[in-house]
This record gives sequence, C-alpha cells and structure tokens, in this order.
Amino acid sequence: MLTRVLGRSGMKVSALCLGTMTFGKEADEAASRAIVDRFLDAGGNFVDTADVYNGGVSEEIVGRALGARRDRVILATKGRLPTSDDVNDQGAGRRHLTRALDASLRRLGTDWIDLYQVHWPDPSVPLEETLSTLDSFVRAGKVRAVGLSNYLGKDIQKAIDLCDRYGWAPISSHQPQYSLLVREIELDTLPLCAHERIAVLPWSPLGGGVLTGKYATAAEVPADTRVAAAPPKAQANQLSDHNLAVARAVGEVAAALGRSSAQVALNWVLHRPGVTAPILGARHVGQLDDNLAAEGWQLDEAHVEQLDRASRTPLPYPHSMYRMIIR
Ligand SMILES: NC(=O)c1ccc[n+]([C@@H]2O[C@H](COP(=O)([O-])OP(=O)(O)OC[C@H]3O[C@@H](n4cnc5c(N)ncnc54)[C@H](OP(=O)(O)O)[C@@H]3O)[C@@H](O)[C@H]2O)c1
Repeated sequence: MLTRVLGRSGMKVSALCLGTMTFGKEADEAASRAIVDRFLDAGGNFVDTADVYNGGVSEEIVGRALGARRDRVILATKGRLPTSDDVNDQGAGRRHLTRALDASLRRLGTDWIDLYQVHWPDPSVPLEETLSTLDSFVRAGKVRAVGLSNYLGKDIQKAIDLCDRYGWAPISSHQPQYSLLVREIELDTLPLCAHERIAVLPWSPLGGGVLTGKYATAAEVPADTRVAAAPPKAQANQLSDHNLAVARAVGEVAAALGRSSAQVALNWVLHRPGVTAPILGARHVGQLDDNLAAEGWQLDEAHVEQLDRASRTPLPYPHSMYRMIIR
C-alpha cells in the first residue's frame, strides 16, 4: 500500500488508516479482528482508536487483535472526552490526560502509543498546559508523536508556535472531519497544515456512509445502517438535499469508472493536496475490502471537476473576496 510520512515525525504510515470506532458496537470482536487481519494483510500499518470508543472496548479489541504484530503498526489513540461521570475525568488538562493515557496503554496492552491526539479542544485549559503535558508523555517514552483533532486553524497555529518557542514535542498531525460533504477545512486548516508539514488525517471520509450510494432518498433509509440509528434531526441533516445530490454525483462517476461509490469518494479525499491518510470506517470485512480498493489509482481531472461542481458551496467572506482580489 502507498505510504506517506506522518508530518515531521519521520514515521511512515499507510495512506489509508484503519478507524476502529465500530469495534465493540456495529462490529463484534470476531468481526473487528477479521477487519484488522485483512487491513494488515493488505499492507496497512496505521490504526486509529480513542479511549471513548464504546467505553474503551475498541481499544481493548485493537490491543488483542494486534497481538504480536503491535510493533509493526503505527498505533494512534486519543484522549480528552469524558471517560466517566466524574467531572474531572475529562478535559485537556494535565490531570485528566495523564490518567487517560495510562488507561489507554493498559487497554491496548502496550508500553507506548505512536501518535497520541487531543480529541477536541478544551477552552477551559491554557494551551500551554495541554502541550507541555503532551511533551512530558514523549519525554517519558510513553508516546512517540503528538497530534490534535477538531481544532480551529488559529489554535493549531498557536500550538505550533508554542511548541517551537519552548522546544516541546511538535504537533505532527491534525484529525479533522473532511469529505465531499464537509469541505470547510479547505479554507484555512488544510493549507496551514500543508505549510507547516502537519499530517492531515480526515475522519468520516464517506460522510458516515452517506457517500456509499445506499441512501437514494431521505424517505427510504435502509435498516442496520448508521443513519437509520441516528435521531430524526441528525438523519434529516445527513440526508439533506445537498448531501443526496453529492452522493448521486459520486454514483455517476462510479458508474462511469466501473467502481463503487465508496471507492470514488475515498479516492477523492486520498488525493486532495495536504491529505496524509483518510481514516476508514467499516462494520465488516466486505466494506473494508471495498474501501481498500480506493487506493492504487487516481480520479482523472474531469471527474474531480464533476465532483467539485456537485459538492462546492458558496465561500464565506472574506474567502469569497480574497479569491477575487488576491491572485
Ligand atoms: N476525531 C474525531 O472526532 C473522529 C470522529 C469520528 C470518527 N473518527 C475516526 O474516523 C474513523 C472513520 O469515521 P467514520 O466511521 O465516520 O467513517 P466513514 O467512512 O465516513 O463512515 C463509515 C461507515 O460508513 C459505512 N460504510 C463504510 N464503508 C462502506 C462501504 N464500502 N459500503 C457501504 N457502507 C460503508 C458503514 O456504516 P453503516 O454500515 O452503518 O452504514 C461505516 O461504519 C473512525 O473509525 C474513527 O477512527 C474520528
């Protein structure tokens, strides 16, 4: 499988990362282990989880599934979101992150995490405290590289500058939502990360399954899907007219190429400038097989343009005028 460098860390990762949010929920342990086996057999070496995925069960399954293959894998996890109803079992401060990292190490059955990510920003904690805590993890040998997820561009830039100023472990990656349905990071975050050599690891590259072609209309939602399990308001948002129109455009390109919609939507993300590795989600090996075939080829310019036209939304100010005035 194609490999890319993970930001400034020097670690080489497969250009498709295996997400494990379904492990212990949509995928039971046997299905999850089969997914891990197939991913590693296909040449993947990059696996992403989080302490909050299914109450820690995802991390436990990942640890058992990797077993003796652990040292061939670049293993990423995240901390910050609540892990219990105790008010202090959450946040990006030193107390919680230190406990969260130790709990992740225990559940994963490993001595080190290759990429430890802060899952969401925490405005109640100075960025200095979060970053110096991450740095102490690297110095203690428990973590090899650190990353952020769901941060605003201005805070990513501030984090880069603070790490430079104090000699703390640099930010190696950012994990934002990015797909043909959610393109806002193209405005600021994606160019910033490319400029600063920060790896970008897009989550929900299939829009949670909306781009796979299984939803023809908002009125017919197939059972046993993530959208069917969502509350009505979220369902309506996910199956908006715009999203369904984008999904139809993906289907047209897929039909023209003799590929699946999932492969087309993933290939588009995989080859966007600045993207390092989209994170795959799958509930069984069949979906993973389909998604792995998104790699090894590239959409031509005409099809990229067709997808761009269908998914483009009006630019907000000042980006709208910036594009006209500054060329
Ligand atoms: N940092 C964050 O805040 C954050 C947030 C969310 C996710 N993540 C990470 O990103 C990973 C991927 O996110 P995601 O699961 O939302 O990704 P996604 O690829 O957008 O959605 C995956 C879902 O789409 C459906 N699907 C996948 N492949 C398919 C195929 N070939 N054919 C038909 N349906 C298919 C499955 O759901 P159904 O079968 O139920 O339809 C699957 O669970 C997660 O595992 C996690 O590691 C991070």
